[in-house]
Formats: sequence, C-alpha cells, structure tokens
Amino acid sequence: MRDINQFTITEAVKKSFRTEEGSRFKFLLESLIDHLHDYTRETNLTHEEWMRVLMFLYDCGKISTPERHEFILLSDVLGFSALVDMINTRGGATEGSNLGPFYLDNAPRKPLGADLAGPRQGVSVLCHGVVRDTLGHPIPGAIVDTWQADGSGTYPIQEEGQDKYDLRGLFEADDQGRYYYTTILPKPYTVPYDGPVGELLRAGDRHSWRASHLHYMIRAEGMRGIVTEVFFENTEYVDNDAVFGVRRSLIAKLEPYKAAKAGDFPLERQPDAMINFDFVLAPGD
Ligand code: BEZ
Ligand code: FE
Repeated sequence: MRDINQFTITEAVKKSFRTEEGSRFKFLLESLIDHLHDYTRETNLTHEEWMRVLMFLYDCGKISTPERHEFILLSDVLGFSALVDMINTRGGATEGSNLGPFYLDNAPRKPLGADLAGPRQGVSVLCHGVVRDTLGHPIPGAIVDTWQADGSGTYPIQEEGQDKYDLRGLFEADDQGRYYYTTILPKPYTVPYDGPVGELLRAGDRHSWRASHLHYMIRAEGMRGIVTEVFFENTEYVDNDAVFGVRRSLIAKLEPYKAAKAGDFPLERQPDAMINFDFVLAPGD
C-alpha cells in the first residue's frame, strides 16, 4: 500500500474490507467508495470544503433527537428519499411517497364513514376510493391507515395539549374493497428550517414548504404494502414540494360533494367536497 496515489487508493480502500464475496453489503460498500472517491477527484475537493461537509454532518447529528431526525430531512430535501420511493415502487402499483416523521403505528381503528376532524375548523371533505390489486380486482379487508395535518398545517402530535391520535385513522375496506371517511383539508406546512438543513435550503435559495397532502399506508394480506401521499390539484407548492413528494399520479381532484356520485355512503358528517382516489397494491414477495 506504499505506492498508493489518488488513482489507486479507491481499489486499496475497497480491498481493505474483508466483506463476504457476492454479498449485498460488499456491493453497497464498494459502490459507495467508488462514487465518493470519484466525486472527490471530479470536484478537486479542498480541505476547507471537506471539513465543511463533515461539520455539516456533525451539526445534523447534534440537532437530531428521537423526534427530530435531521438526516432524514437532509435525505428528503436532496431527493434521496423520493428516489428510494420511486425505485421501490412496483410496476402497476400506486407510486410510493414520503412517510414523513409523524406516522404512529398504533392509530385508532375507525368504522368506515367516520369523521377524523371532530370540531376542527376547515373544509370538510369525503375521501373515498377502492383498494385494488394490479389486475383491477378489489381487495376486501385491505387496511387504509391515514394521518394528516390540520386546517392550519399542523399535525396534532406537534402541539402540546392536543391528542396525538387526532386526524388519524385506520380503516378496513368493505367487501367491495371500498374505503370512505370524512376529514378536513390539510394546509401546506414547512419542514423544519431552523437547523443545518434549513441553512442548506437558504444557501440554495429554496423554500421549505410542503404541498398540502394526506398520508397513507395501505396493506393487505399477501400484498406488498405501500406508503404514499395524496395531493390536490391546483394547490400551492404542488409543483415545487420541498421534499419532491408529488407525482402526477398522486394528485387528486377536489370536487363539490354529491352523495349520488360518491356512492351514498353512510357518513358521520356531511362534507363540502370530495376526492376519489383508488390505491393499487402489487402482490407480495
Ligand atoms: C411530512 O410529510 O409530514 C414531512 C415530510 C418531510 C419532512 C417533514 C414533514
Ligand atoms: Fe406530512
């Protein structure tokens, strides 16, 4: 290793790890070393720039807590999270999108037709659709787990004194694969921008707003579950979401509520508007 130079160092570093031949770990690690070294050579990285990167990562770690994960936020604003979602979307299935930091894995089960908003102010909306497989067959019993911000762009979990389970619900699709419930339209909100990621956004003259969205986790026996978001046509930031969560196929059309058109579901609350969005699951592995 004495005759190492800027061109031979990459192979030397890769060889220094005694990783299992043919393993995924070996492949991921070696590819990372290749790309990191290529980047460093291509950019002629200076000592100051190298230290700036490391201090940035240090700052991301320093501000992180179990509730605030600055590295995930960094991944989000760099489109890294979105790219992983895109790569892992199965052909024919609903496209995946950002999980975000506010998912709770024990959301309360609610009967179909329930209202998630309670006394909260906002535009009341019926969300309905069918969960199907990639051949178009409905999936009775599919689980539709949803969570969202309120009419001012805040998740109840973010606010002292609020019930963290508000504006969440877990529904079981009926025998025709249908789900339906009412809620209020969420408003856009900003991702945290008081830390190093905020500094990065400002340095790049970028805003920190997310387009208004509903989060969904959909699963069913024998199917590959999905994590996704539904956005709304003609709303702010839908064309420049701070975390690249929007896909054309995930934008729903908001329509005035018409019981006959929706399917005359038994609802706890009479909505002003409605959106119709079907979810498609691919078979499990
Ligand atoms: C969210 O969608 O809830 C979210 C996503 C990324 C950062 C912060 C919040
Ligand atoms: Fe969100």
